[in-house]
Amino acid sequence: MTSRPEAELDTSAAAETKTASGDNTRKVFVRTYGCQMNVYDSERMTDVLAPQGYSTTADMEEADLVILNTCHIREKAAEKVYSELGRIRKVKEERAKAGKDMMVGVAGCVAQAEGEEISRRAPIVDMVVGPQSYHQLPSLLDKARQGQKVVETEFDIDAKFDHLSARAEKPIMKRPPAAFLTVQEGCDKFCTFCVVPYTRGAEVSRSVEQIVTEAQRMAASGVREVTLLGQNVNAYHGEAADGSTWGLGKLLRRLSEIDGLDRLRYTTSHPRDMDDDLIEAHRELKSLMPYLHLPVQSGSDKILKAMNRKHTRDEYFRLIDRIRVAAPDIALSGDFIIGFPGETDQDFEDTMDLIRRVEYGSAFSFKYSQRPGTPGATMEDQVPEDVKSVRLQELQALLSEQQKAFNASRKGMTCDVLLEKKGRNPGQLVGKSPWLQPVQLDAPESMIGSVQAVEIVEIGSNSLFGRLIAGQDAADGSGAIPAPAA
Ligand code: SAH
Ligand code: SF4
Ligand code: F3S
Repeated sequence: MTSRPEAELDTSAAAETKTASGDNTRKVFVRTYGCQMNVYDSERMTDVLAPQGYSTTADMEEADLVILNTCHIREKAAEKVYSELGRIRKVKEERAKAGKDMMVGVAGCVAQAEGEEISRRAPIVDMVVGPQSYHQLPSLLDKARQGQKVVETEFDIDAKFDHLSARAEKPIMKRPPAAFLTVQEGCDKFCTFCVVPYTRGAEVSRSVEQIVTEAQRMAASGVREVTLLGQNVNAYHGEAADGSTWGLGKLLRRLSEIDGLDRLRYTTSHPRDMDDDLIEAHRELKSLMPYLHLPVQSGSDKILKAMNRKHTRDEYFRLIDRIRVAAPDIALSGDFIIGFPGETDQDFEDTMDLIRRVEYGSAFSFKYSQRPGTPGATMEDQVPEDVKSVRLQELQALLSEQQKAFNASRKGMTCDVLLEKKGRNPGQLVGKSPWLQPVQLDAPESMIGSVQAVEIVEIGSNSLFGRLIAGQDAADGSGAIPAPAA
């Protein structure tokens, strides 16, 4: 329950991305840490490198270029980068013995936050590239090849989106059925614990047209489910063709009209930006999945204020009530930080009480980690590690109980499942329920990429087990229908 995002998303982009270029003489290995936006960015980086003759590899030893797309959100996430660079140094030395070169790039939020410091600590790094500069990768690589140490951490987010969108206009190869699409980047909220406003910069929304075009291309290349991404996705305020500004609700309505896109999701939202129109979209749109990640971080008004979250616990409760009136079936998810400076036993109890009242379908929880440069790092009353550990354990026990109860409540239901890939055993596929739970079931491979009606027959510790309902088409992408009487 603790381990979103870094651990789960520590993937090589290689498996999913093939180059569109015929001239595949060079290999790039990309390792992605952190949030879904890094996953999306890694795909865009490999898109940008394809015309340079790079195809992706899942094997670092054969890579001419290694890119680590990094995360700075907690201390542990950032430290992982340096231990990985130690391993890469050995691979690079082995390749050098065989007369082969290997360039090493560090991208993502550690690159933005630490810049030159990275190549000082790890001299094998040739190139440090912040999240707003990926469109410049080809020219930066040229410079690095000429022996310059490259550090590019300027904020020019509009240029990034323009260039990466131009790239997306070229034909996209077959995509997996579920994909991410960044609609907004950066954050103006400045929560006192968080590095994101410093690593991703100010909040910027992409235009409606850019997003619709990219979503249409995704649908045409086999994508059935799109998750709209933003550090603060529900603060989306993009420009439409007529010059007006659209919020996220309106954008979702427009995207729901695209043929082939059966399912829409979005993440991550801030409680302050959950407006009526977006809540209404949950009532109206069948393709908008009944799942909402709405982090609250703490249940104590004192701590919420110290965190600069800009709302109270009561406002959060009222918001949850409004959302549940519009979408009674919705699975709520959240993030919690334990041991923010000044958190007393009573503040922690307030968080436990909030969790009991809200009842989450799933949630993520973290010990507070002091991040250099954020106001929280220098606050008095830092909470000792052992106190954080005890509280975290207690909180996770409660969240895990709620998750189990939520999963168990699906037993016997029939719901739509988007079948995404092969399962562990032959004949088995894995898909996602409307509430984002993994569902395993026996089904032919030809069904990958389709939405099927599935009866949930068993509940496992991490996933649900289902059975195809023969002959019953999944008419809409959303919710559940009661199981037929046995
Ligand atoms: N934009 C999102 C969160 C992005 S960061 C929001 O506003 O909620 C993802 C999660 O990491 C946060 O929700 C928070 O729970 C956690 N996190 C961020 N900074 C942290 C820190 N310094 N220590 C521990 N957890 C942190
Ligand atoms: Fe970080 Fe707060 Fe912005 Fe979320 S809203 S990204 S927690 S500063
Ligand atoms: Fe990490 Fe940056 Fe995402 S700090 S969580 S990769 S925005």
